[in-house]
Amino acid sequence: MRPDDADHYCVIGNPVAHSKSPLIHAAFAARTGQHIAYGRRLAPLDGFADVVRDLIAKGYKGANVTVPFKLEAAALATRLEERARAAGAVNTLSFVDGEIVGDNTDGPGLVADIVRNAGVPLAGKRILLLGAGGAARGVMLPFLQQGPAAIVVANRTLATAEALVGAFQDQVTQVSACGFDGIRGEFDIVVNATSASLSQALPPVPASAFTKDTLALDMMYGDQPTPFMQFAARQGARTRDGFGMLVEQAAEAFAIWRDVRPDTHDLLTTLRS
Ligand code: ATR
Repeated sequence: MRPDDADHYCVIGNPVAHSKSPLIHAAFAARTGQHIAYGRRLAPLDGFADVVRDLIAKGYKGANVTVPFKLEAAALATRLEERARAAGAVNTLSFVDGEIVGDNTDGPGLVADIVRNAGVPLAGKRILLLGAGGAARGVMLPFLQQGPAAIVVANRTLATAEALVGAFQDQVTQVSACGFDGIRGEFDIVVNATSASLSQALPPVPASAFTKDTLALDMMYGDQPTPFMQFAARQGARTRDGFGMLVEQAAEAFAIWRDVRPDTHDLLTTLRS
């Protein structure tokens, strides 16, 4: 096979140099025998749509979208999948038959990491979601589809949490909003969807939210456990960073594009080491 036979994809962001997506997709392609080329594309802050048009003109089949373009990608798409509409954001674009199809695999990636990789089913569980921004919104529908008993959305700005919860009322799951000082009771799963870890800050979640059976997951990842993970570990909780979510959202995007689901288990183990 010649390299120029490959179907082309990339991740668009600003910044984008740090993105691990090319590494992950290359590993998926090698493992599934799919012939793709996946690169990085830095878009100027006011040039996202131009980059997408350029990719389409060059015959690209799709792209992932990262910070800060996920909302713009949703606006640019000519068709949105349900989970992208619910998230209000797009991280996966497919260029098919003249359409720009927008999907969002971040939430399904998080669910896959919790359920399959961490082995924690969400049905009937009590979930505490910290934060009410784009990252939190993106996981609401995928969480609700798992049928948890309750989702409590806690945010620094209460009104934002209330607005988010208002958009996701559900027949099965009790969905409610509070400030950090309104968090009551223990939770099976606590997800940090705030951007606090970016500035090494700890969202003011009470120690009483955690038990030794709680899974505490930070959507961020890095070389060291985040302040949230360190705090949760001190309460005896089991902790997990966002690296599994990153790999799983990539696997979901790969499956959308290629109709083949890569096995993520051994890749996660390899990349972590
Ligand atoms: P993202 O797309 O990563 O979700 P965002 O939409 O800007 O980014 O949302 C950031 C979230 O992190 C918000 O819920 C924000 O709380 P506010 O709505 O009160 O701004 C939350 N956040 C950011 N820094 C935080 C901190 N130090 N402690 C607690 N919450 C924080």
